[in-house]
Amino acid sequence: MKECVIIDGVRSANARAHKDKGWFRNVRPEDLLVKVYEALFERNPKVKPEDVDSVFCGTANQAGMQNDIARIAWLVGGFPESVAANGVGQQCCSGMAATEHAARAIMCGEGDIYIASGVEDMQKVPMMFAIDISPKLLDRYKFEDIPMGATAEKVAELWKVDRVDMENMAYWSNKKAAAARDAGKFAQEIIPIEGEQEDGTKFMVDRDQWIRDNISMEQMATMKSPFKENGVVTAALSSPLTAGAAAVLLMSRDKADELGLNYHLKYVHGAMAGCDPTVMGIGPIAAARKLLDRTGLTVKDIGVWELNEAFGSQSLAVIRDLGIAENAPFDNVNVWGGALALGHPLGESGLRIIVTLNDIMKTDFTDAKYGVAMLCGGFGNANASLWQKVEK
Ligand SMILES: CC(C)(COP(=O)(O)OP(=O)(O)OC[C@H]1O[C@@H](n2cnc3c(N)ncnc32)[C@H](O)[C@@H]1OP(=O)(O)O)[C@@H](O)C(=O)NCCC(=O)NCCS
Repeated sequence: MKECVIIDGVRSANARAHKDKGWFRNVRPEDLLVKVYEALFERNPKVKPEDVDSVFCGTANQAGMQNDIARIAWLVGGFPESVAANGVGQQCCSGMAATEHAARAIMCGEGDIYIASGVEDMQKVPMMFAIDISPKLLDRYKFEDIPMGATAEKVAELWKVDRVDMENMAYWSNKKAAAARDAGKFAQEIIPIEGEQEDGTKFMVDRDQWIRDNISMEQMATMKSPFKENGVVTAALSSPLTAGAAAVLLMSRDKADELGLNYHLKYVHGAMAGCDPTVMGIGPIAAARKLLDRTGLTVKDIGVWELNEAFGSQSLAVIRDLGIAENAPFDNVNVWGGALALGHPLGESGLRIIVTLNDIMKTDFTDAKYGVAMLCGGFGNANASLWQKVEK
């Protein structure tokens, strides 16, 4: 089999998905995607759009403005019609699934150069947009148990995740994200894109909008759950509604060497797993275990973890169940903060955590041999992917 390496990874800033306050409220999601594709070619001039075998793009809700957004973004960007673009739908796991599809195509020798991407604008295409749930699904699961917030409450209860521990995690997620932003860590991955401030002033959006610099344990303790009476999952313990796009340029190692390109991570393995949709957040436990079992690795072998923080409850349940750590701040999990602070544009996040993992292993965790990115998805899908440092 061929080896698949990451040549580059970029993303838009993650902006609030809000019709009056979101910095990208007047930018369509396909235009965000075009900007990240353009950035990949500008940053890697040896690779031309026509050299790409095909493009994969994950989007959770492929309806409205996001209907076949993979192909439409490619076309509106003026890229060659001869390059195919494939939409990948696996709810929040879509962006990671897109990456795995591309990596596997490279490894089995179908092609040498692929783009994997992910995009979502949760204001312009809200979570329940145009959804018509199968009545047969509702024979199997109660309707009220399926929404994401309900699943997060159930995980908190069944996995006995204490609210204060979740608030501590949210606190550290925001603090770590703010520290990474202030240290310029995200500058290598965020492509500035024009948006507008809350007051309408245009500016180049080069930072994530949701990070709460003034987060406080006292303030969080006063918040109520929007999902359940006397529940524990508050807005601070939920990934907020977000808009964003991300993309990676993947290549066979042979091709990268032929073109004289740099790389430092290769894709090793991906594992998808399913679980009860009413506790969908615990899915990464099974996906990560499958990944480790199949590769003969243990939790201790993994130097860096990127786990999408869909909710505080499921994140802590996963981190504890896998035996990675007990409580935040974690040494090697979400080193630059997680979705509780950075936001979670559904189909983008699986891609975003791979982009960030790549950068963390390039700059801060240079001795780590392996990194894992993993996330849960609506209706009980989960995905984990293993990346290994390679010397050129
Ligand atoms: C939880 C949720 C319903 C809240 O949505 P919302 O009502 O639009 O609320 P906001 O995110 O604007 O936050 C509401 C208020 O909570 C407060 N708040 C949120 N996080 C806070 C924090 N960390 N500290 C203090 N206050 C906080 C703020 O007052 C905020 O309003 P403001 O920033 O405008 O002053 C929404 O974010 C949500 O559904 N998240 C989950 C999304 C999801 O399911 N994703 C898929 C996962 S698999």
